[in-house]
Amino acid sequence: DTLYFCYKNAQKFIGDHEVESIKPAVLDAAKRLKEKTGDGKDFLGWIDLPVNYDKEEFARIKKAAEKIRNDSDILFVIGIGGSYLGARAAIDFVKHSFYNDLPKEKRKAPQIYYVGNSMSGAYIEELIDLIGDKDFSVNVISKSGTTTEAAVAFRVFRELTEKKYGKEGAAKRIYSTTDKARGALKTLSDEEGYECFVIPDDVGGRFSVLTAVGLLPIAASGADIDKLMEGAAHLREICLNNDFSENPALRYAAIRNILYRKGKSVEILANYEPSLHFISEWWKQLYGESEGKDQKGIFPASVDLTTDLHSMGQFIQDGSRLMYETVLVVEKPRRDFTLKSAENDIDGLNYLSGKTMDYVNKCAMKGTIAAHVDGNVPTLLIEIPEQTEYHLGELFYFFEFAVGVSGYMLGINPFDQPGVEFYKANMFRLLGKPGAK
Ligand code: PA5
Repeated sequence: DTLYFCYKNAQKFIGDHEVESIKPAVLDAAKRLKEKTGDGKDFLGWIDLPVNYDKEEFARIKKAAEKIRNDSDILFVIGIGGSYLGARAAIDFVKHSFYNDLPKEKRKAPQIYYVGNSMSGAYIEELIDLIGDKDFSVNVISKSGTTTEAAVAFRVFRELTEKKYGKEGAAKRIYSTTDKARGALKTLSDEEGYECFVIPDDVGGRFSVLTAVGLLPIAASGADIDKLMEGAAHLREICLNNDFSENPALRYAAIRNILYRKGKSVEILANYEPSLHFISEWWKQLYGESEGKDQKGIFPASVDLTTDLHSMGQFIQDGSRLMYETVLVVEKPRRDFTLKSAENDIDGLNYLSGKTMDYVNKCAMKGTIAAHVDGNVPTLLIEIPEQTEYHLGELFYFFEFAVGVSGYMLGINPFDQPGVEFYKANMFRLLGKPGAK
């Protein structure tokens, strides 16, 4: 009853001797990660987070979440990249598909809207249209405290909050998650008296979901953050201590590097549950930003299935043979229903009567995997027992540990992101930001 990694559908493409021969490199990379001797060693705080986190702050997060649940109809979560995707992935993973549209008595938590993750004025204006006379709180999240998208959105929502509740009232409804000492957001928060939560120095944005960055919005949705941490702690034990053969993160890192060396330069993460869409978005950031450097790396792509079988299916089956596929398999879905028999079988679907949708979905998945393997797409499986907080904690940790190992095997620093600065310089120059060159 734990996350499981399996590459039986890639065995046609990978010999056992290849796995044996890459093993020393995997173990060496894992050793550098565990002993903190590799590149980016100052950003490895995430390794011990599931067990070694600030318990006082954790309790404060729960208290703030409780207050938000009691006094707010809406929570606006302001952040981008690593300060956004983890919370959204988690809430979608464990909560109702139509969470925001449920009646409040059913949701027992505020609606959650994300903002500050684009530069769209239409998005901001149209989000403001939703507020009406509803009570709301704001969680602004930015490690640097200077990211333009988040800062612009915060300026707008801070003003709205102050207009509705006054300066003092607003200070009780704005929660700020940022660096412990640095950055414009920290200065402003201290000046205004917002409750602050800390993103530790040694945890990079894309590895921060198990800090207040993810935990406050996740807890505000009513999800169980204790279970999330427990699941992550369980996978941490496995990743740090298990031998290669029983270690899903090491095996995943090994197989993706073998495939990369064979010319498979695209990994497609596939899911068969729409509620996993943002897991893929989170994963793309984690893998893309960690590995895509020095003109190297596997390009992380994703598809939602069976939806995208009707759009991208053709390419995966028969287009350029660049890719392998990693399927997120949810063993037991959150909910299911059984198809009934119809009196007249005009639509010809009676052959499915008595079958559950999950049975149909799994047949679609098995059929697709077999077809893609026939089409020379090696397929890896990540089996997730259930969409619970516990198993989500496992999944987050699994992917984080594997990308650290995989990045070291590639010979890059998986914990920096120098490339994301280049566009900013151009944008600031065009905007005439003071001091921009
Ligand atoms: O992983 C990263 O470092 C980035 O994606 C950041 O999370 C993103 O740019 C947001 O940065 P900040 O939290 O400083 O606003």
